[in-house]
Amino acid sequence: VTEPDLQGRHVVVSAGGTREPLDPVRFLGNRSSGKQGYALARTAAARGARVTLVSANAGLPDPAGVDVVRVGTAVQLREAVLKAAADADAVVMAAAVADFRPAVYAIGKIKKRDGQDPDPIVLVRNPDILAELSADRARPGQVVVGFAAETDDVLANGRAKLARKGCDLLVVNEVGEARTFGSEENEAVILGADGSETPVPHGPKEALADTVWDLVVRRLA
Ligand code: PMT
Repeated sequence: VTEPDLQGRHVVVSAGGTREPLDPVRFLGNRSSGKQGYALARTAAARGARVTLVSANAGLPDPAGVDVVRVGTAVQLREAVLKAAADADAVVMAAAVADFRPAVYAIGKIKKRDGQDPDPIVLVRNPDILAELSADRARPGQVVVGFAAETDDVLANGRAKLARKGCDLLVVNEVGEARTFGSEENEAVILGADGSETPVPHGPKEALADTVWDLVVRRLA
């Protein structure tokens, strides 16, 4: 039986992967399917929360009873998350957000020219949404949760990321071409700014999502 322990709460979840356009037909993207973020949205709704799901290129069906806002790029995701976060009790950033975007958007399709090398792609930094949410809380006591997608030195990188981003909880998961991305399952260690470490064994993405909400509920109480 699911306890309605998020009843009366508004939570914001981001999911999926941003796409940073190069021209009308091409983009820089990543392997996020959106499944982990959608599992967070579904489980929060099942626990009674009002849920805003900011979804980047996920291609998954809208979860029942959840407000879905669709975005493409990191800049659009930032705008939608900050707007929804204004009256939120908790924000969970499960989306894979591009750290960089092409400096120039070509209005017409970039052509290959005979005998010429391609132009290099120049990148500029995207805003760090999680760091911004953590530094400027929209409400006192708002709980901010990040994810860390790591391929190596997973826990050490996770700890450094928690300190850098300033969030309350950081869900550290290992990723690879065929690991975590797109899969139905995940495993993680959830690091708390209070020094706590909560290991979550390999299992459905819903189980990890429920553990995240358990930790959020404790911090909201
Ligand atoms: O979608 P699935 O296929 O189910 O896969 C799930 C997942 C691997 C995408 C998910 O579990 C996950 O790890 N999401 C975070 C991916 C990511 O962007 O990690 P990161 O370590 O690059 O970023 C750290 C945190 O900062 C994340 O919460 C991210 O949302 C946030 N961020 C990153 C860059 C940026 N410019 N702004 C941000 O807010």
